[in-house]
Amino acid sequence: MPAIVIVGAQWGDEGKGKIVDIYTEHADMVVRFGGGPNAGHTLVVGNDKLVVRLVPSGILRAETMCVLAQGMVIDPRSLVTELDELERRGIHTKGRLLVSDRAHVILPYHVLVDGLREKGKDAIGTTKRGVGPCYEDKVARRGIPLGAFRDPKRLRELVARALSDWTPIIQHLGGGEVPVPSVDETLAAIEEARGRIVPMLVDSQALVERTVRAKKRVVLEGAQGTLLDVDHGTYPFVTSSTPTAGGACVGAGIGPTRIDEVVGLVKAYTTRVGGGPFPTELHDDVGERIRKIGAEFGSVTGRPRRTGWLDLPALRYAVRVNGLDALAITKLDVLTGLDEVKVCVAYETKNGRSEDVPMDELDTVKPVYQSFPGWKEQLGAARAMADLPKAARTYLEFVEKQAECPYILVSVGPARDETIVLRDPFAL
Ligand code: IMP
Repeated sequence: MPAIVIVGAQWGDEGKGKIVDIYTEHADMVVRFGGGPNAGHTLVVGNDKLVVRLVPSGILRAETMCVLAQGMVIDPRSLVTELDELERRGIHTKGRLLVSDRAHVILPYHVLVDGLREKGKDAIGTTKRGVGPCYEDKVARRGIPLGAFRDPKRLRELVARALSDWTPIIQHLGGGEVPVPSVDETLAAIEEARGRIVPMLVDSQALVERTVRAKKRVVLEGAQGTLLDVDHGTYPFVTSSTPTAGGACVGAGIGPTRIDEVVGLVKAYTTRVGGGPFPTELHDDVGERIRKIGAEFGSVTGRPRRTGWLDLPALRYAVRVNGLDALAITKLDVLTGLDEVKVCVAYETKNGRSEDVPMDELDTVKPVYQSFPGWKEQLGAARAMADLPKAARTYLEFVEKQAECPYILVSVGPARDETIVLRDPFAL
């Protein structure tokens, strides 16, 4: 029984919540391997909705173990807020939600710096949750692994050390008018959360490896998307982690030979939040319609998402970078009602036509589109490809062929059952 990796093939928000939820139905363990409270997915609990940023959706299944692995950055206060919200809805997390003692702590000064930078001319449209500054600390070797929560003296020393580096930066960014939090204030802000998180800490690497070796079903859940990857994305308009498949190994602490399948999630169109190049972006009524019908507003920040047509060079790039075995295509239903559906097949660049992604000039390339007739039929009841209108099938078949990656699933509506399941990733 395999370990599968699920990654976003675009700029995030590809509908991971629903697909991870489907795949975790029979999973023994769900592992979030990177990112932090910049992610967000909506859990539906009875008639109630709850947006979680850190806790995987697998928490809704009583039998599934959920792990926040060492590639993550965790804001302790966000985590306990999520735990409280879950408990209030009768979902018990004790013993089922484990946190790596090597994941890094997001502290109030990270959030402060992230927010101050976003006020300046170099803003890139982050989620302002302190994710970037926390990863900076990790790489600068002054970060604070959650394991330090077990030892208040060590924690104090680490906070003092990091704060001494951040102080001049905060003073500079705030023009001397923004108070720099003291060590005491920083520790006081997380004290209650610290006490609650210590019992959840584990060596998650060993735990995940043991579970995979025992041939249990493990889902390694990515956040964000390929084009936001710090190495492979539209740098510098990226997040600070590795949301691509390689990041699953690093972030969860298992080797590539332990992964059986990599599934990429792609929307039937494209969205992006924050700044940065987006060749197929629409600034017209069609873009507005997609935003409205697709409810394309950030689940963490509420920002309207930028919308555009599907971009095949970018999708092929994601297939390559992640070594995708299969594609799960989502939100096909959002395109219903359009007279025509376009897809970008190549770019016009300074040096002629390109079917690859020229990262350096992505902000100036012109997309070359192929147009397909739209369809008017509602898709929500489709459970097999044959149930789809011919026009929708033609579009899907073209995309699959061009992406050179087969579909494993097609999502035709927000509800769980509004899905065409073509193959079970665990049935390898
Ligand atoms: P950060 O991750 O908050 O530093 O933000 C860096 C960039 O990644 C910004 O453009 C964000 O909008 C984007 N980003 C971060 N997390 C997500 C996500 O879960 N979905 C979509 N975009 C995201």
